[in-house]
Amino acid sequence: MEYLTLNTGAKTPVLGFGTYQISPHDTAEAVKTAIDTGYRLIDTSQDYFNEKEVGDGIIASGIDRHQLFLTTKVDTDGYEETKAGIDESLAKLQTDYLDLMILHWPRPQSLGSYKALEEYYHAGKIKAIGLSNYNIQQTKDLIAQTEVMPAVDQIETNLHLQQGKMHDFLVKQGIVHEAWSPLAQGARVLNNDPILKKIGQKYHKTGIQVLLRFLTQRQIMTIPRSINPAHIRANFDIFDFQLTADEMKQIQTLDQHRSAIGWPSSMAVDA
Ligand SMILES: NC(=O)c1ccc[n+]([C@@H]2O[C@H](COP(=O)([O-])OP(=O)(O)OC[C@H]3O[C@@H](n4cnc5c(N)ncnc54)[C@H](OP(=O)(O)O)[C@@H]3O)[C@@H](O)[C@H]2O)c1
Repeated sequence: MEYLTLNTGAKTPVLGFGTYQISPHDTAEAVKTAIDTGYRLIDTSQDYFNEKEVGDGIIASGIDRHQLFLTTKVDTDGYEETKAGIDESLAKLQTDYLDLMILHWPRPQSLGSYKALEEYYHAGKIKAIGLSNYNIQQTKDLIAQTEVMPAVDQIETNLHLQQGKMHDFLVKQGIVHEAWSPLAQGARVLNNDPILKKIGQKYHKTGIQVLLRFLTQRQIMTIPRSINPAHIRANFDIFDFQLTADEMKQIQTLDQHRSAIGWPSSMAVDA
C-alpha cells in the first residue's frame, strides 16, 4: 500500500473501497472481504443507506479500528441537521470517531453544514473534514468563509474525465484529490481499451489494474467498488509495478474531459 498525507498531518491509504450502490444485504460481507484483502480505507455515505452494515463488516473483520481510515458523507443541509446527522453516522458506523467526513455536494446551507463539521473536528470526533463535488469557484468561496481548510475534495475522476485542471488547483491548495467512480461505474470496456490493454500486457495486469495504478500514481485517493471477491482482490493488486512517464502520458491522451456519469452538471466538464 502507498499513502498520502492530508493537510492535518494524517496519512491515508491511496487506494480504498467504495460502497455506493452496494445493498445493505451485501455490504457487511463486501466490506469484510475488502478488509481481509488488505484495504484500510472504506468510503460510505449517509445516502448509501448502508452505514450500519459498513460498521457490521468492520466489526466482523476483527480489525483494530485504528488501522482503518473510515470516510462518510454529509447528506443533510444546515448546522443543526448536520450535527444530528453526524451523531447518527457515528452510531450506525459503530465508531467513536471518523477519519474523514465530507459534504457530499454543495447545498443551500452548506456553510452551516461545514460549521458543524468544524465543530466535530475541533472536538476530535472527526479527524479530517472536506468536500465532494465542489468545483474550483465553489471551493474558493467555501474556503473564504470558513476556518478549517478542507483536507479532500472527492470528485468524479476516471479514464475519460481525468480532472487535470481541478487536480492542479487542489494540489496548489494542499487539498487531496479523491476519485469517485474511478471505473466509471462500468468497468468491462476498460479491459478492452487498446492502450490500457497493451500497457497491461507488459506488467501482466488488466486494463482496470493499469487505470487504478495510473490514478494512484497521480497521488489521487481512489476508491473502486465491487461485490465480487475476485474483483476486490484484483483491484488491490496494483502496487507491484510502476508506470513509466511515457505510459502515464499515453493514458493522459485518453482524457475526453467529459463526465461519464453526468452529475453534478457544475463539474461535468473539465475544460
Ligand atoms: N461523492 C460522490 O458523489 C460519489 C459518487 C459516486 C461514487 N462515489 C464513491 O466512489 C466509489 C466508486 O464509484 P462507483 O461505485 O460509482 O463505481 P466504480 O468503482 O467506478 O465502478 C463499480 C463497477 O465496476 C465493477 N468492477 C469493479 N471492479 C471490477 C473489476 N476488477 N473487473 C470488472 N468489473 C469491476 C463493479 O462490478 P462488480 O461488483 O461486479 O465487481 C461495479 O459495477 C463509490 O462506491 C462511492 O464510495 C462517490
